[in-house]
Amino acid sequence: MRIGRTGLVVLTGIFVAGAAWAQEGATGVVKERMDAMSDIGDQMKIIGKMMKSGPYDTATLATASGNIAGHAGPALLKLFPEGSIQETSDAKQEIWTDWPKFQALAGDLEASAQALKDLAEDGAGKELTSAAFGTLAGTCKSCHETFRVKK
Ligand code: HEC
Repeated sequence: MRIGRTGLVVLTGIFVAGAAWAQEGATGVVKERMDAMSDIGDQMKIIGKMMKSGPYDTATLATASGNIAGHAGPALLKLFPEGSIQETSDAKQEIWTDWPKFQALAGDLEASAQALKDLAEDGAGKELTSAAFGTLAGTCKSCHETFRVKK
């Protein structure tokens, strides 16, 4: 296809408009994963607050860590289709150039959240669950360090 001068101007216009629109806010799968991450963050706050100032309640702990596990692993990977970066996204390109590592970290998140959930369901004491909580929090840091743009 031959694109004349007018065609090029029109095409450029479309791309510029698209970029401006993306800045307004994340959409589609990018918004979905930001929402999932925000929920993960909220659940971590619930657990962190409980660990710090109580009251210690294994039922709440099991629910919160179960919610995190539900967002992790394959569910999380599904929200990162190749090249899905928008203006508002903090995802790094390295996610797709180092996919096996990203995949492993999504798996670590799931495994550590599940481990905490299992402990809570067994009625484990705070000493055990707070150690498991620390491991879980470590997975957030590992992934963000490598794959999320620093603010
Ligand atoms: C496998 C990698 C990975 C793991 C593990 C991970 N995150 Fe993230 N997280 C990301 C990426 C990538 C982004 C940026 C997504 C974007 O902006 O497109 C992000 C963004 C976020 C955000 C910002 C969401 C928004 O609205 O922009 C929060 C909050 C967050 N993560 C919390 C957590 C917490 C808490 C944990 C651990 C319990 C965690 N994450 C574990 C990769 C990960």
